[in-house]
Amino acid sequence: MTVSHTARLLVVGDDDFGAAAADAILQRLPDRRPRLGIATGDTPMPLYSELARRVRSGQIDVSTGFLIALDEYVGLGSQDPRSYAAYVRTQVGAPMGIPAGNILVPDGLAVDPDAEAEAFERRIGDLGGVDVQVAGIGSNGHLAFNEPGSPLDSITRVVTLSEQTRSDNARFFGSSSDVPHRAITQGIATICRARSVVLLARGSSKAAALAAALTGPVDTWIPASVLQRHPAVTVIADRPAAADLPTMRY
Ligand code: PGA
Repeated sequence: MTVSHTARLLVVGDDDFGAAAADAILQRLPDRRPRLGIATGDTPMPLYSELARRVRSGQIDVSTGFLIALDEYVGLGSQDPRSYAAYVRTQVGAPMGIPAGNILVPDGLAVDPDAEAEAFERRIGDLGGVDVQVAGIGSNGHLAFNEPGSPLDSITRVVTLSEQTRSDNARFFGSSSDVPHRAITQGIATICRARSVVLLARGSSKAAALAAALTGPVDTWIPASVLQRHPAVTVIADRPAAADLPTMRY
């Protein structure tokens, strides 16, 4: 088994995670009108804190940039603190000095979620696509809310969340029964159109999925494995998440 030839893999300690991820992103992000694809959840928080720190200290200025979310729960409005719109606005956009008008998140309260998904796919294209996509991996191998079995050629659409994902995300809602059943997510093909992808993984709960995604076959049952086909992927993992990777090879 070898880790995908195209991916660059960095295994870092907790203290270095945010800085390593920020460096990987900034190396690939254009200075003018950068378009950064945003993953939500716990994993990228050290990255967003580090980017905000660099903005505050004047090392970088991304105020002309755009933030493009991967997904949103159907049924949650942007003022709901559990929505990804709220996450992107408060955890990423505001601390990085990016105006609210430059933040794109699917509308979880759209009357017609299918039409909203189609419109979101178009909006990404109209903006010229994503320069650097931050991505996480689910404990079940999902990529954004593309759950196992998602077609590799899928575009932005309404999906039903797996029980695994709803139970993994119960911590944000109090109980898994409160987690919405549906979401609007960028598709696997949509994500793969980003010019580069920085895949982040932290914690032992991601070890098996990360090893399968990087060293197994490209398979719809591990949606993140599609990144093996992407020409510009950097994977940053902490040691627990990297524990199942073939250590002698990287
Ligand atoms: P997490 O989510 O960062 O909260 O673990 C990642 C994912 O499910 O893709």
